[in-house]
Amino acid sequence: MKKILIVGATGNFASHVARELATLGDIALRVTSRSEKGLAKLSKEFPHAEVVRAEWTDRDSLVKAFAGVDRALMITPDLTDEAVVVPNTIAAIETSPNFDLLVRLIAIPPITADEMTEEWLNTKVGTAAHWVAKDAFKGSDVPIAYVNVSAWTAYTLPWLCGEAIRTRREMPITGDALRNWIVESDASELMAKMLKEGSDPHQGEEYIVTGPEKLTFPDIARILSEELGEVVTWVDSSDSYESTAGDMAEALAIYTRYSAMHGHKQPVTDTINKQLGRPATSLRQYFRNNLHLFK
Ligand SMILES: NC(=O)c1ccc[n+]([C@@H]2O[C@H](COP(=O)([O-])OP(=O)(O)OC[C@H]3O[C@@H](n4cnc5c(N)ncnc54)[C@H](OP(=O)(O)O)[C@@H]3O)[C@@H](O)[C@H]2O)c1
Repeated sequence: MKKILIVGATGNFASHVARELATLGDIALRVTSRSEKGLAKLSKEFPHAEVVRAEWTDRDSLVKAFAGVDRALMITPDLTDEAVVVPNTIAAIETSPNFDLLVRLIAIPPITADEMTEEWLNTKVGTAAHWVAKDAFKGSDVPIAYVNVSAWTAYTLPWLCGEAIRTRREMPITGDALRNWIVESDASELMAKMLKEGSDPHQGEEYIVTGPEKLTFPDIARILSEELGEVVTWVDSSDSYESTAGDMAEALAIYTRYSAMHGHKQPVTDTINKQLGRPATSLRQYFRNNLHLFK
């Protein structure tokens, strides 16, 4: 039975991956959190898993977390210093002799090195952090496969705009562009499948995942209005960044500007269909399944 490590299993994507793996079965699961609260939550949700503390910036904790595992998931939160965290991860994997696959989430649209500016890199948000991470893995012997979530993720909407939608029927978000969106459970189901199947056939692959269509913010407000049965109005405002993203607000605003500039370059892909044998979930379906987040 393969042992699979999910670092940060309380996270938006990683919690889906851990649940999916627990459902697939025939896997020994090790899940991590940094907090007592997170550890208690994971122990309750995954009674058959090993629950341990791990911190990407603490090499010793990673070495312990990776000890004896065959595969692992690496999803780092925005603002991570990948120049520190990737070498820590490589060092931890080197201590685990049976290790055969690291599944790493990135979000990099088709851009050139010239288009990746210092200003963008300094945000350490999304593409900027992942650009550094991908570079830091080059030349290592880590057996790796990337899931390139080159799309904005559905959970961003309740996170940034949930309260305004619920209380004022407004969707305050800035940086409108015709861009890809994906529902997090789709990308997570693919990551779980890769972890279950292992290095053959996934090592060395980069799967670019998107939802079924590109949408603007007004498109999204219209679809949500139709599903709620009440008009939700898109407001071009970064107010939601300040109230929800806190310290990250400024970096997020810069990131959004670059995302609007480059995100449209990524065509819609059929990776979810090819890998999971079913169409990618639409944002309409996501709203329908999660109306309580917006009511
Ligand atoms: N929002 C979007 O539209 C979008 C689209 C594509 C890609 N992405 C990318 O997705 C990634 C974030 O994914 P997510 O939202 O699933 O992450 P997340 O929920 O913010 O974080 C995942 C988990 O990591 C753990 N964690 C945080 N800091 C840690 C540290 N220093 N060491 C160890 N564990 C740590 C946390 O768990 P504990 O607190 O329990 O330890 C957290 O639950 C980012 O790289 C982002 O750029 C986002």
